[in-house]
Amino acid sequence: MENGEKEEKYRLLLKQVKAMVSDESDTIANMANIASLIHETFGFWWTGFYRVMDGQLVLGPFQGPVACTRIGFGKGVCGSAWKERKTLVVPDVEKFPGHIACSSESRSEIVVPIFDGDEVAGVLDIDSEHLATFDSSDRKWLEEIVAAFMNR
Ligand code: SME
Repeated sequence: MENGEKEEKYRLLLKQVKAMVSDESDTIANMANIASLIHETFGFWWTGFYRVMDGQLVLGPFQGPVACTRIGFGKGVCGSAWKERKTLVVPDVEKFPGHIACSSESRSEIVVPIFDGDEVAGVLDIDSEHLATFDSSDRKWLEEIVAAFMNR
């Protein structure tokens, strides 16, 4: 996808997310529709949320194939984004030590932590079946999308 087209899609997506969350206060309902919006807009392999519950990441609303249900602190890309409290962009999952392969089709990944105040409350995880799908522009837009959702 050309860069301008991607920017335009994200711009519209952010607008839709803001409109959607302003009308609904339930976290799960919002996560479900945000996962669907992102997934349908870009046609990624897997798009979903994990929530921090009792010291683990537990699978939340998602679109795509069946996924691992629980991920420990510091484990895989998701647990690492939680531990490091920052977005991780992984161009080739096979080169990420400890990557958790929920699906053998996944080639690249981005994980964005979701902050509730100072605490990481969960992560947004997106997988692509192509190498190097995500870059700093995806990071910027997806961080804005999760912030819009948390600060509704
Ligand atoms: N690959 C992730 C696990 C979650 S699935 O991709 C949906 C990881 O390494 O944390």
